[in-house]
Parts: sequence; C-alpha cells; structure tokens
Amino acid sequence: MSTAHFIVANKGSKEYSGDLLVILACQDQKKDCVCTERFAAVLKRLPGRNEFRGACEETLLLYPSLFAENGNGRHKRWLFVGLGQLPSRADKFDLFEKLRKAGGSIAAFCKKHQLSKIGVVANLPAEIPETVVCRYIVEGIGLGSYSFSSYKKKEKREYAGLKTVAILDVGQRYAVRKEVGLAINAVEATCTARNMANEPANYWRPQHFADFARELAGRHSLYCQILEKEDMQNLGMGGILGVNQGSEEEPRLVVLGYSPRKYQKTLLVVGKGLTFDSGGVSLKPAKGMMEMKYDMCGGAAALSAMVAIAREKPSCRVVCLVPATDNMAGGGALKPGDVITHYGGITAEIENTDAEGRLVLADALAYGIEKYQPDCIVDLATLTGAVIVALGHHYTGLMSNNKELADALLDAANAAGEPAWQLPLGPAFAKQLASDIADMKNTGGRFAGTITAAEYLHTFVGKIPWVHLDIAGTAWNYTEKTYIPKGPSGIGTRTLIEYVRTLSAALKS
Ligand code: BES
Ligand code: MN
Ligand code: ZN
Repeated sequence: MSTAHFIVANKGSKEYSGDLLVILACQDQKKDCVCTERFAAVLKRLPGRNEFRGACEETLLLYPSLFAENGNGRHKRWLFVGLGQLPSRADKFDLFEKLRKAGGSIAAFCKKHQLSKIGVVANLPAEIPETVVCRYIVEGIGLGSYSFSSYKKKEKREYAGLKTVAILDVGQRYAVRKEVGLAINAVEATCTARNMANEPANYWRPQHFADFARELAGRHSLYCQILEKEDMQNLGMGGILGVNQGSEEEPRLVVLGYSPRKYQKTLLVVGKGLTFDSGGVSLKPAKGMMEMKYDMCGGAAALSAMVAIAREKPSCRVVCLVPATDNMAGGGALKPGDVITHYGGITAEIENTDAEGRLVLADALAYGIEKYQPDCIVDLATLTGAVIVALGHHYTGLMSNNKELADALLDAANAAGEPAWQLPLGPAFAKQLASDIADMKNTGGRFAGTITAAEYLHTFVGKIPWVHLDIAGTAWNYTEKTYIPKGPSGIGTRTLIEYVRTLSAALKS
C-alpha cells in the first residue's frame, strides 16, 4: 500500500470536507485542556467537566452533523486527540515521540473506521512551533498507517488505506511544507524498508536486492554497482562466498552510492542482507525459523535510507553496501571447523555456521574501506540473539570504537524515536575469539555474544570511526508503539537519515 498524500492546505478547517477532522489538544500546567478556540468552545458545552481533558492518549469522537448549527454541518466526524502536558522544547526528543505516537493513534482510528480522507488541525500553544507539530504528527500518521497486503487478495479490495491527509489552519505554510517534506522522506524510506522485509524469502532473493538497488539508482541520482559471484571469487571474498556455499542461489554485493560534486567526508553504510538464515549446517530449531526471512533488515534500512538521502542532497558522500545471500545447509555448505579467508587476507575458523552475519559483513567492510576510504562507518545488522537477552525488544545495541561518532548516532537514534544503548568493546572480549589454527574464530562462546560479534567486525574497521548497530531485537517485534505496526519496524532507516542530516548540516556550517 502506498503512503497517504499529505497536503499543507490553503483552505482552513471551516471549509474542509472529508471523512474526519482531527483536532489536537494538550494540557496546561493546571492540567486544563488547551485547544484551538473554536473547538475549545465546543468542548465547554460538553455535559461533564471530565468528558475530555486533553490527557495523553485520550480521545473523543463527536458527530457534528448531529448538531448542525454553527456551520459545522459539513464535517462528518470530529476526533479530539489529547497529548497531555507537553514536554518543554528542551525535551525535544520526548516531544517528537509524543507527537508521533498521537499520529499513530490517528492512523489506527482511520484504519478501524476505514477512512480515506482526513484533515488535521495541528495548532497547539504558541511555545510549540507548528512546524514541529506538523512534522511529527505527519511522521506518526504515515508510519502508523502502513500495511502490507500484497499477498492478500481480499483485503486489498476492501480498504485501500488512508489516501489524503490535509494539514489545516497553518500560519507559516511555506515552513511547514518544508518540515512535512522531511517527514514524508523519512516515512517513505521506512515503509520501503518494511516492504522489503515483509516480502517472503522465495521472492526477495539476493538478485532482488540487486534489481531493487538498480531501480532506485535509476529513479534517483544514485550510482549502483553489483558484484556477482565471479567478482567475489576474483576479489577473494571468502566470507560471503563461504556463507553462500550451501545455497542454490548466487550471492550479490550491492553498492548504492550518493555523491555530491564536492564533498569533504565519506560515510560508509553496511547493512546485513541475509535473505534467509537457516543457520546452515549448525541448523536453527524449526520454531521461529520463519522469522529469519527478516535477517536482511539491516540491508533494507541501509538501501531505503539512500532514497531519502538522494532527495535531500546532503553535502557528504554516502556509500551503502549490502552483502546479500541466504544461509542454507546444502551439500556444499560450510562446516564447523572449516577455515575461510576474508577479503584482505584475514582468516577465520568456523565454529558455528549460524554466526554468518559477521562473515558477510567483514568482507563488505574490508572492501568498502579499501575502495571508498570512508571517514566514518555505520553498520546495521540483525546480528545476535544475545542482544535480545540484553536489551529486549526496546533498544538497539550500539557498539563503537569512537566516542564522538557513538554520541552522534545515539542522538540521531533518540531524535528518530529509535533509541539505542551502548555496550562496551575491548580486548578482553576480542580475546574470546582466539583460534588455535586461524587468525580468529567466528564465535566467542556463551557470554557477551553481542559484543564478541562486534569485536569480530572491529578487526576489519581498525581505527576508522565506526558504529555497529545490532538490530536483532528491534527490526521486528519492536516495542509496542502506535506508529509501529506488527511485523518489521524499518528500524535504523530514520536513524541513518537523521544522522546524515546532522552530519551534512555540521559540514555546511
Ligand atoms: N540472524 C541471527 C541473529 C538473530 C537471532 C536475529 C534471533 C534475530 C533473532 C544470527 O545470524 C545468528 O544466528 N546469530 C547467532 C550467533 C551465535 C551462533 C554465536 C545467535 O545469536 O544465536
Ligand atoms: Mn545465523
Ligand atoms: Zn543471521
């Protein structure tokens, strides 16, 4: 389903006709309801004082046509949505998140009542700029109204989803349009990542990653290069090739890059693109194995973020690499005890073929570093089950060799409402990977599994500022939020977009 059309309307709410008019309300310091005068006057006429207080997550549905005086006759439904007491602008990340969640509730209401055309009155007290309100409400509505029904014939016919959302009664329309544009870029990229993840693994194969990147490059000003199996053999990418050995399906290394004419910095983004992870010979248990079609969510986030980046034209170069393969247990598959040689020559003894993500990422990192000489690196990967043990489905695990870059990504993640929590790295963890016969092993034992996986990657990035995001707990089954529907969350997409926005702004100033 495609994203709704968002319009910052020239018309006001009085003239609006659609399925629903949403009116935002919040609370002042005395917890009294605050909303636009015209609607506040209506609320005053409600029979009880506590009928609607504007509290967080409180809603009130009215049918104004049933009391058609005051020119309200043309409106079918009014939905008052409470936001509670708003965090001050100093707590801006909180504020953004509250607005997104309200947007998510609006989307859920529209879905329940199968509404396709709505208007939103997004005025709040003057301390909160309308640019902020509109941007994050739009983000919430857009992200919340996502659904995936490509394989459901019936549902497709029944409700086509939210079609148009008009933002009404806006004063600074030009500034608001600009902010809403940023929200739409973020929403569309995130929903693209969710679409990729939702596709089953028999459809979304490595070649599909390649075709999709090519298509994006054609549609936006991006360049695309696809390394095929033969190229990898020539380059000596023993990690990707090793993981791919047990499969009928050829691997691909997808390169999608954005490059302004002049740039001072290059960001390398690497996303794990395991189209399916059966575990290989170290086979996973059947229960839950179906979810391993989502093992490409890092790659999906990385590629889709490039769409927003191409549209926003930052001042830095961004090169995205997605090593794509499945991890199967065919006759030629890697076996425990095998030794592989990565791009660049580092060798690894395979202790567990299910620790395959680090193998494909290592080749991509080593290749990306040599070819593009990045100033900084971010990788995203559904890398370890252990990160779910540590942080549940609530936080992405972040590990880094550089404080400044780590802080920048923690900030970007918070701004995007995709919070991450930093875990340490260090030689003690790296030592767990020592092998008797090769440069290292691909597993580090039972303890600190998320960190030893990161240390494996650390070997390949060395001292180049690098952040590793382990999204195994957040890429699907993500912590409950109104604007994140069940299924893949698209996590990481908006964090990346946000980070590139701040990086670009810092380079310009
Ligand atoms: N893709 C999995 C990690 C994963 C597990 C993601 C559960 C989401 C949910 C990864 O390839 C994997 O299998 N990791 C192993 C590593 C272990 C063998 C050292 C794991 O976490 O069990
Ligand atoms: Mn695995
Ligand atoms: Zn995996």
